[in-house]
Amino acid sequence: MSDGAAPDPDIVVKQVLAAHAGEEGALLEILIAVQEALGYVPPASLPTIAHALNLSRADVHGVVTFYHELRTTPPGRHVVKLCRAEACQAAGADALAAEALGPDVTVEPVYCLGCCATGPAALVDGELVAPATLARLTQKIGSDGSQGGGSRGDQNRIVVGQNQSDLPNSHLPVNPSVSVFVPRDAAARARGADAVAAAIAAEAARRGRAVRVVRNGSRGMLWLEPLVEVETARGRVAYGPVAPGDVARLVDGGLFDGQGGLGPTDELSYLARQERVTFARVGLIDPLDLAAYAAHGGWAGLRAALERAPAAIVDEVTRSGLRGRGGAAFPTGIKWRTTLDTAAPQKYVVCNADEGDSGTFSDRLLMEGDPFTLLEGMAIAGLAVGATRGFIYLRSEYPDAYRTLGAAIDAARAAGFLGRDVLGSGRAFDVTLRRGAGSYVCGEETALLESLEGKRGEVRYRPPVPAERGLFGRPTALNNVVTLASVPAILARGADWYRDLGVGRSRGTLAFQLAGNVARGGLVEKAFGLTLRNLIDEYGGGTRSGRPVKAVQVGGPLGAYLTAAELDVALDYEALAAIGGTLGHGGVVVFDDTVDMAKMARYAMEFCSLESCGKCTPCRIGSTRGVEVIDRLVRGERPEVQLPLLRDLCDTMTHASLCAMGGMTPNPVLSAVDKFPEDFRLRS
Ligand SMILES: Cc1cc2nc3c(=O)[nH]c(=O)nc-3n(C[C@H](O)[C@H](O)[C@H](O)COP(=O)(O)O)c2cc1C
Ligand code: SF4
Ligand code: FES
Repeated sequence: MSDGAAPDPDIVVKQVLAAHAGEEGALLEILIAVQEALGYVPPASLPTIAHALNLSRADVHGVVTFYHELRTTPPGRHVVKLCRAEACQAAGADALAAEALGPDVTVEPVYCLGCCATGPAALVDGELVAPATLARLTQKIGSDGSQGGGSRGDQNRIVVGQNQSDLPNSHLPVNPSVSVFVPRDAAARARGADAVAAAIAAEAARRGRAVRVVRNGSRGMLWLEPLVEVETARGRVAYGPVAPGDVARLVDGGLFDGQGGLGPTDELSYLARQERVTFARVGLIDPLDLAAYAAHGGWAGLRAALERAPAAIVDEVTRSGLRGRGGAAFPTGIKWRTTLDTAAPQKYVVCNADEGDSGTFSDRLLMEGDPFTLLEGMAIAGLAVGATRGFIYLRSEYPDAYRTLGAAIDAARAAGFLGRDVLGSGRAFDVTLRRGAGSYVCGEETALLESLEGKRGEVRYRPPVPAERGLFGRPTALNNVVTLASVPAILARGADWYRDLGVGRSRGTLAFQLAGNVARGGLVEKAFGLTLRNLIDEYGGGTRSGRPVKAVQVGGPLGAYLTAAELDVALDYEALAAIGGTLGHGGVVVFDDTVDMAKMARYAMEFCSLESCGKCTPCRIGSTRGVEVIDRLVRGERPEVQLPLLRDLCDTMTHASLCAMGGMTPNPVLSAVDKFPEDFRLRS
C-alpha cells in the first residue's frame, strides 16, 4: 500500500478469512486483522465473515459492537488514543484538549496503556507517546504525515514474529570491547530510546570505538528512561534519563569507559533495596536472546519440572504459597490441582495478559523485558496440569509486547523449548498468542475465555470454574502473567525458599507499580509487608508536583481510595483487606491535594457503565444510575436524599452483581464519599 491506493475491502476480507481458515474461535482475530488492513471493519463485510464462519450475522455484529477498539467507519488520517484512566488523570491528562489536534485526527479514549509511571500517555497511530503533551502529540502526528502518510492500515499493522529489527541495534566491529544497554521497553521508546540507541551507535562509529548496543528490557526505574547502561569491570554503570542530544557530551565525558553518570546500576537505592525474583532478569538481558536467558538461569525451572510427576509440580507450587497476582489472590496450586484432577482429552493453560488496571504495568514490563520466563512458566503449568496447548490473551493496547512475545514464541519453538517434544522429553506444549480489542471486563477470567473463543466478552456463571470447564469447555489453568512468570524460580530454587519471603498468608514477592502523581514512578519488586508510606516516600520520592499526598488508590479501578493518614498500612493481602482496601495486581496510584474526589467517584461509576459486560442488572443499570446520583449530589440537589440512594445502590451492586466489576465498583465510590466528604459538599 505504499503507493497510497486504498486496499479493496472484499479482497482483504477474503485474504484474512483464508489466513484463519479452520482456526477455532477466530472471529475476533479476523475482525482485528480486517481493521488493521483497512482501518475499520466495513459493515458490508459482516455477512461474508458470518457465512465463512458459519455464524449468524447477529453474532458477528454483536462482537463488532462489543469491543471499544473495533470501528465500523473509516477513521481520520491519524488515530490518537488518549489515556483517560486514573493514573493519567493524576498526571494531568484532563488538560489535554483533544480538539486541538486537528480535524483529520480521530481521537479515541483509552483506559490505560501500561505507561502510567510517565503519563499522561497516548498512542499516535500505534506509537506510544508518554508523557503526552499537546506539542509532542502534534509533533508526532506531523512527523508521521511527512513520511507520505500511508493508510491507517499500514500504520497499525503488527506482524507476529517480527523481530523488531527495525529497532536500532548496532553490532559494530567484531570483538567489541564495550557493551552499551539501551532499553527497548515501550515506555523507554516513548521517551526516545530508539534515537538514543542510534546516536550511541553513530557516536561510536565516528570515534572508531568498538561498541555493541544491546536492547534490553527496562530496569523498572521509569522516571530515568531512557536509562543507558555501560558494562564495566565494576559492573554496569547507569546514565539517565538520556536524550539523543546528550550522547556526544556523555561520550566526551567517558561514557564508553563507565565514567560519570549515576554510578553502578545495582547500587542505585531504588534497585538495591528490591528483592528481584520474578523480575530478576528484566532489564539485564536482551529479551529475545536465548543464550543470555540460559546464561542467567533460564530454563532451570522447566528442567526441574520435567524430572517430576505432574502432582509433584503442583505440590511444590502449593507449598510455595503462591497466590494469583491478577487480583483475586487465589492459591495457584489449588487451582492447578483442580485442573490436574479433571479428566479430559484436551486441557489448556491460558495466560491472562489483559492488564487493564490503571496504574499497572508489571505484566507489560515482564513480557517486553523477559518473555521467555513467561513461556517457561506456561510450559511448567502445562506439565503440571496435563495441558499441551497454551494461549496468551494480550490486551491490544500493548503493541510492543505483542511483537516481542510473537518473536519469543517463534524463537523458543525453533530452539525446542516449545512444541511437540519439549527439551527432548517427549512431552508437548505449544503457545498461541491472541489479542483483545479494548475491553476492561475481558480481564475477568470467564469473559476472557468467551473473548478467546471469539465471542462478546460476557462473564460466565460459575460454577463450573474454568479449572474444570474453561476454554472451549475444557479444563483450563488460567493465570496472570506474573503468577506464571513466578513459577520457574519456585521450581528452580524450591518452594521453601520462596515461602520464606513475605508475611502471613502473603508469601513471596509482589511487583508493586508506582504511578500517577509520583516523582519516581516505576516497578518495585519486594517481599510482601513493606508499608505503603515506605513505597511512596522512599521509592517514589513523594509526589511529582511536590504537593502533599491527598489520596492513593491501590489495586486498580476497583480498589478503595486511601487517605494520607492510612499510608502506614502494610502491603499484604490481609492487612489491606482489614482497612477495606485491596492489593489487586499491585498498582499504586498517587494523587496530590489538587484532586477532586467527587470527580474520581463519578469516574469510577462511569468506568463501570462503559466497561460493564451488561449481563447483570445491578452493574449494567446500577452504574448508569450511579453516575446520575453522584451528579445530583455534587450539584447539591437534596444531598439528604441522594446520599442514602447512592449507598443503597452501592449495596445492591456489591451484593447482587455477578462479578467483581459491578461488585467492587462501590469500593472507590464509597471510600471517596466517606473519606473526602468536603469534595461532595457534604461537610456540614
Ligand atoms: C473486571 C475484572 C478485570 C480483571 N482484569 C484482570 C486482568 O487484566 N489481568 C488479570 O490477570 N486478572 C484480571 N482479573 C482477575 C481474573 O478474573 C482472574 O482472577 C485472574 O486472571 C486469575 O489469575 P491468577 O490466579 O494468576 O491471578 C480481573 C477480574 C475482574 C473482575
Ligand atoms: S457485574 Fe457487570 S461486568 Fe460483571 S457480569 Fe455483571 S454486568 Fe457483567
Ligand atoms: S497509561 Fe494511563 S493509566 Fe496507565
